[in-house]
Amino acid sequence: MIRVVSALSATAILLVAGAQTSVAQTAPAQIVKERQDAMKKMWPGYYKDIATTVRSGSPDLTVVATKAVQASAHVKETAQLFPPGTGRDVVPTTRAKPEIWTQRADFEAALTALIDATNAIGDDAKKGDVEKVKADWTNLAKACGTCHGGPEKSGGKFRFEED
Ligand code: HEC
Repeated sequence: MIRVVSALSATAILLVAGAQTSVAQTAPAQIVKERQDAMKKMWPGYYKDIATTVRSGSPDLTVVATKAVQASAHVKETAQLFPPGTGRDVVPTTRAKPEIWTQRADFEAALTALIDATNAIGDDAKKGDVEKVKADWTNLAKACGTCHGGPEKSGGKFRFEED
């Protein structure tokens, strides 16, 4: 009986140790790193290909539709990487402004606007509507700027300018 009990408590200790490890993996600094990597990937990973083909004047609508689906999913994942407790007071390397948490509704609206604009260009590409795709692009390009200016160093409503 004593053996059983000690075996159980050993298991319990292992479980606690396991839980602590998984908390450590999602430490605030790790979340900041993940979201900065996710943000860095937006342009080269998804939107650049859309921009290039739309600006060519005769867009490849298959590229637009495919990339839009991927981009939309990527933005939704990125949106999960802004939990409270990951601001500059905790992680000095982040450029996320405190307004992300104090004006949460506006921040989420900016994310939703980006997702909606991405879905719109994808849907119009599937319909084969080149003129609408071009207009959608103008709209989409503005959606990044709601939170920060275009260039990587720029700041804005939700991002500190790079030092
Ligand atoms: C809802 C607000 C929001 C939208 C929309 C948004 N971003 Fe960001 N972005 C941020 C924030 C906040 C940071 C700073 C993250 C940090 O440092 O923790 C950031 C950082 C970045 C960075 C710099 C990464 C780094 O390591 O500092 C790039 C590049 C970037 N975004 C590209 C884009 C592009 C391209 C789009 C549009 C397709 C976009 N972002 C849309 C909020 C946004």
